[in-house]
This record gives sequence, C-alpha cells and structure tokens, in this order.
Amino acid sequence: MPRQLFVTTALPYANGNFHIGHIMEYIQADIWVRFQRMQGNAVNFVGADDTHGAPIMIAAEKAGVTPEQFVANIAAGRKQYLDGFHISFDNWHSTHSPENTELARQIYRDLRDRADGSLIEVRTIEQFFDPAKNMFLPDRYIKGECPKCHAKDQYGDNCEVCGSVYAPTDLINPFSALSGAKPELKNSEHFFFKLSDPRCVEFLENWTQGPDETGKPRLQPEVANKIKEWFSVRTNPDGTTSEGLGDWDISRDAPYFGIEIPDAPGKYFYVWLDAPVGYLASLKNWFDKGGPKTKHGDTRSFDEYMAAADTEQYHFIGKDIVTFHTLFWPAMLKFSGRKTPNNVFVHGFLTVNNGEKMSKSRGTGLDPLKYLSLGMNAEWLRYYLAAKLSNRNEDIDFNADDFMLRVNSDLIGKFVNIASRAAGFLTKRFDGKLTSDFGTQGSALLAEIRGASGALAANFEAREYSKATREVMLLADKVNAYVDQNKPWDLAKDVANNEALHQVCSVLINAFDALSRYLAPVLPGLAQAVQSFVGRPMDTWAVAGDVQAIQPYQHLMQRVTPEQLDALFEPKEPLAPAEPAQAAPKKVAKSAPAAIPADPNAPGGEALAPTISIDDFAKIDLRIAKIVNCEAVEGSTKLLRLTLDVGEKNAEGQPTTRNVFSGIASMYKPEELVGQLTVLVANLAPRKMKFGMSEGMVMAASHADEGANPGIYILNPWPGAQPGMRIH
Ligand code: MSP
Ligand code: ZN
Repeated sequence: MPRQLFVTTALPYANGNFHIGHIMEYIQADIWVRFQRMQGNAVNFVGADDTHGAPIMIAAEKAGVTPEQFVANIAAGRKQYLDGFHISFDNWHSTHSPENTELARQIYRDLRDRADGSLIEVRTIEQFFDPAKNMFLPDRYIKGECPKCHAKDQYGDNCEVCGSVYAPTDLINPFSALSGAKPELKNSEHFFFKLSDPRCVEFLENWTQGPDETGKPRLQPEVANKIKEWFSVRTNPDGTTSEGLGDWDISRDAPYFGIEIPDAPGKYFYVWLDAPVGYLASLKNWFDKGGPKTKHGDTRSFDEYMAAADTEQYHFIGKDIVTFHTLFWPAMLKFSGRKTPNNVFVHGFLTVNNGEKMSKSRGTGLDPLKYLSLGMNAEWLRYYLAAKLSNRNEDIDFNADDFMLRVNSDLIGKFVNIASRAAGFLTKRFDGKLTSDFGTQGSALLAEIRGASGALAANFEAREYSKATREVMLLADKVNAYVDQNKPWDLAKDVANNEALHQVCSVLINAFDALSRYLAPVLPGLAQAVQSFVGRPMDTWAVAGDVQAIQPYQHLMQRVTPEQLDALFEPKEPLAPAEPAQAAPKKVAKSAPAAIPADPNAPGGEALAPTISIDDFAKIDLRIAKIVNCEAVEGSTKLLRLTLDVGEKNAEGQPTTRNVFSGIASMYKPEELVGQLTVLVANLAPRKMKFGMSEGMVMAASHADEGANPGIYILNPWPGAQPGMRIH
C-alpha cells in the first residue's frame, strides 16, 4: 500500500539569503523525499519563507523599503539555490499570504472557542515602550547597564560580560536600541496560549514521551530527553526554578509585521504562532494550484487530506527550534481540533572546516552560490553530506580535505568509474548489447548487490544516510575486486575470450545500474544520466530483470580539484601582492598621509587634503553596499568581516558578494550591521590580509587624534538608495 506523506523543512527567516546550514537541511529532507517517491509513495514536499516579526520589520525600515517589498526581494532569490542543489520541493510559499492569515486566525479561534473551556487568556503585562518610535520594544532592542557587573551597552535579557540573566526592567539607564530614547514602562494586554492547562500538559507529555501511531518511540531519544525537562521543576540558567510548562505569550502590539488577531484590533500574532501554520498554508496553496499528489486520485480537498487518517506529516528541523515543534506546534494543532504531526526529525548543526557554528542570520565559510558559480557539482555536496548524516541530533562538519577524499576516492573512484570500465568494450565489441549470462561468480555478485535492496531501503527510511552510503561503497569495493580478478582489459586482448569479456562487462553494468538506483535519492542528476545510459528507469526503487543494452558512455562526473576548494574559501579576484595585515580603514588614512599631524584646530583634527580635480575624484568608485552578512573575525578584536552586496553578478548572471574586512569591531555588533546599507570604495585594489582577502574598503569617519577622540563611524545612506548605486 503506498503511503501518503506530507513533508516540510523549517521555514527560513526571510531576512537573508540561504546559507549552507539551510542547504544541508533541504538536502537531508530531499533525500528522504526522493527515496519515498521511489518507493511509490505519494509525497507533498513544501516550504515557505518565514516573513513576520520585529527583526524583519526593522531590517526593512533600515533598507528603506516596505516589509512586503523586503520579503519579496528575499523570495526572488530562493529559486537559484533550490534548483542549484536539486531540491525537489513541490511548492514554495510565504507566511505573508492569504492562506496563512486565514489558517492562523482559524486555529486561534478554535483554541479560543473550545467548548470544554478556552485555551486563550488575556492578561495585562508591563513592557518597555519606545516613545520616539511609538512602539513596544522586544527584549533584544532594549539596552542598558548590567545591574550586576555594570557593564555598559548590554541587551535587555542577559549580560554578555558577566553572563547574568535578568528582565529588561532591571537594566540601569535603559535605552531603545532603535532610537536611543529612554523607554517607558507601559501596560499592554497580551494574549496567552494556556499551555499550563492540564489538558495541554497531559497531551504533550504523551505526545513527546510516549509511542507514536505505530507503537515505536516517537521522538529521537536525545530530543525526548531534552523536552522532558519542560514537564518538571527545573533550574533556569539564572538559578531560579520554573515549574512545568508555562503559558505562551502569542501576541504583539502594533506596529508589527504580522497577522492581526481576530477581534483584537492593533494586536498581532507573535511570529512563532503563524510561522508553523505556514506549513499548512504552503500545502493549501499547492492544493489550490491543483498540484498535490494523493494516493486517492486528485479528488481530495486540502481539508480532507489534512484530516485523513492515512496522511502522515513530518517536519525536518534543526536542534535550535525543537520546543516550538514538539510543544507549541502539536498543541496548537491538537487543541484546535486538528491532526498532529506524526513526527519531527531533528538534525544538528553544520560547521565548516571546524569553524564556529553558523549563527541563524549569518552563514560562515561556505557560500552556496559561490560553490555553484565555481562550477562545483551540487551532487558532490549531496553525497558528502549524505555520507555524514545519521538520524541523530548531532553536529557535522564540512571539512575541505575530507570532502575531496570522499568525492574523488569513494564517489568517483569506487562507484562512477565502474561504468567507464565496462562501457567502452560493450559499445565497441558488442554493439552495446548485454548478456544475461553472468557466470557463477558474476551471478553471485549481482545477487548480493540486488539482495541489499531491503537493508538499504531501511537505512534511507530511518534517515541513516551515512550507513546507506557506506553500504553502497562496500558493495562497490566488491565490484572493483571482481574487476581486478577478471581483468576485462586482458580479456579484450584475445577474441577467444569474447564471451568472458561480454559476461564481465555485463555484470559490471548491472552492478552499476543497481548501485546508481541505491544512490538515486542522493544523486538525482547522476541517476538521470544513468537512466539514459542503461535505458531503464531510475526513479523506482525496484526493477525487474537485467539491463539489456547501453548507450555510448558519456562522462558522468568530474573530480573535485584542490583549486576549486581553494577558490571556494578565498575571494575570486586575482591575488594582489601580499601586504601586512591592515586593521582599520582608519589606519589607511592615518598611515598614508603620515606627514599630516593631528591639528586640534582643524576640523576633525586634521587639515584638509590638497585640492583635487573632478577627474581625480572620478577615479574613486564609491558604491552603495548592502551588508548581507557580518561576523567577528577569530583572532582579531578589531576587525569585522563584512559580506557586501554591491549589486554585482558573475558571468552566469548569479549575484555575487564581496568580502571586506573593516576595523570597526569596537563600535558595532555584527548583528546590528546585517541588513544595513553603507558606502564601499569599490575599485580599491584587493588586499590580502592575515585573515583573507579584502575586496574593497568600507568608508568610515573618525577623528585624527584617536586617543583623545575615540570612535569610528560607518556611513548609512538615506532610504531609497539601492545596492550598486554609484555615489557621485
Ligand atoms: N524561521 C524559523 C523556523 C520557523 S519553522 C516554522 C527559523 N529560521 S532559520 O532560518 O533561522 O532556520 C531555518 C532552519 O535552518 C532551522 O531548522 C535551523 O535549525 C536550520 N539551520 C540554521 N543554521 C544551521 C546550521 N548551521 N546547520 C544546519 N541547520 C541550520 O529558525
Ligand atoms: Zn554583567
């Protein structure tokens, strides 16, 4: 009986492009989905942008566009990543959509209007309000002095210096990080989902700790254990204790980019309320487009599909969003009278070259679009990640040397080469026709390979991809041992051995056919090429009979080169002569005209530079740059690494970014720069610095006498300026 599966990945925040961590999640889910489709199961695999919330609203304001425009720009960039890495979503939608508005409001009404007692409660809470911006401030937009250690400029929820945890109201001299204004305490009515209600607690304890619909433990053991803590008295990081599940604050006050709460003007759903509803919204949108696959023909409506006992619902997510998916989301569905997910599959984080874990808003190290634009094969990455992924909630590392080894030695050396070892002889000597007389040894080998089908399927089903790829490579080792024993190249020397040669080559192609099918969920592009080569489908797990004939062999996959990997982790531009590390733009200004001493009477502490002509000025190409990513530089207290969008594209028309180091770490936190526009000297020769290549210089203002007048300030254009615009 085919199964009916509804599968999603987490919905990425629409505040930036995909980073390699997102791509990893999509590849993990895509492999599972492709495997299920090969089994003949009916799968609907959907995603969407998570568009709402204060950070996106504020980022849009800073970029000088409406939030709608902001998220539309992000959405427009998604396709090239998804297509590029062969991710087979059936539909991609947005939480800022009519379907999501409708569904989120209905779920809320169902929770509120329960016949056995409402699960929504309104309470008045006291919150900081920014009088200049006329809005309530989320904790992370309030700063002030730490009440414990008196460190200045600390966030509203915890101190980064002494680590203590407190409420924003405990801060000394609090100020709004948005306007600088002194926030006022104001009362506001908030809506709560009563998760502490015994009905919710009992259901969630069973759902997370008990067995699933098939009687097996539902959650991964490490995930279930972590969630267990929520049901008992526990100690918080600040030493206080909390008792059991608390109620969940699901509302925010206007202005907020989100969905207005029914019958509550000026109140909006907190982004995490409507975000998972986006799973349903994307699926509903897919139904409205007439696209979905159900095993009952296409007569089922969205509502029928969601209510059907045989629809299985699975969410692939990262370890950082487990509580939302194993507590809040199942409770929302359950108590609004809906079916709950069958499971939530949690993966760990991807790190790059043993680097720090990529933060939510900034990827590090491996830019997915750069990977593609270097001509690197998406399926190398898919294979490499598959070789590392298990069904455990564990971090995995992308290591460049390991990547090269696994791709070149295993994937190509052991597996892809099997085809080329046999194809030439078959085409030249046997007109491409195969025999089904495999000889004793060949028959045994093929029987073993074909017999592994069930065990391999079980590994894919259980998301044990590393076990599956290892098993395929062990089988490939056996095929290669068979080649070495039977030496087709020797057999080919004497026509008297024709029959043996035909046998050996036919065994090899049939082995290759089977192994390609086993790897098809991981390597769909390769599988397609193999399908043409062997002349039979690669999109079903089971096929009967043997390969009959092959088409002339065409090269199936290139090797990865060290140059590609070097280029992936270095800027693309030709290297400028190495120069000593230069910390700050400021230092450039200071060291170049060293002859000009600080002059307390001159503006900014230094006399004006000699007059230049307009032609001199025209040589300097200043551009508006968008800071799409920003991060601290390990080993440097001064530098920030900025990833800038200057509106540039490469030869393939793919957007590219620049890497620029700037000595402004003392002034700005990386996260406050992300999304901002600034000014770049765009035609400055690239410079090799200790930490990498700097491809331009971000302009910044400072006083010539840095000691007496510390501070360095980057520029921020007025709203309306767009990345790439030249400054004249
Ligand atoms: N918008 C929320 C999810 C809402 S789901 C209804 C969110 N977005 S996110 O863009 O920050 O993350 C999206 C997914 O990417 C999450 O599952 C997250 O765990 C995953 N990853 C983010 N960084 C990652 C790595 N470095 N490695 C692997 N996955 C990572 O959270
Ligand atoms: Zn402190």
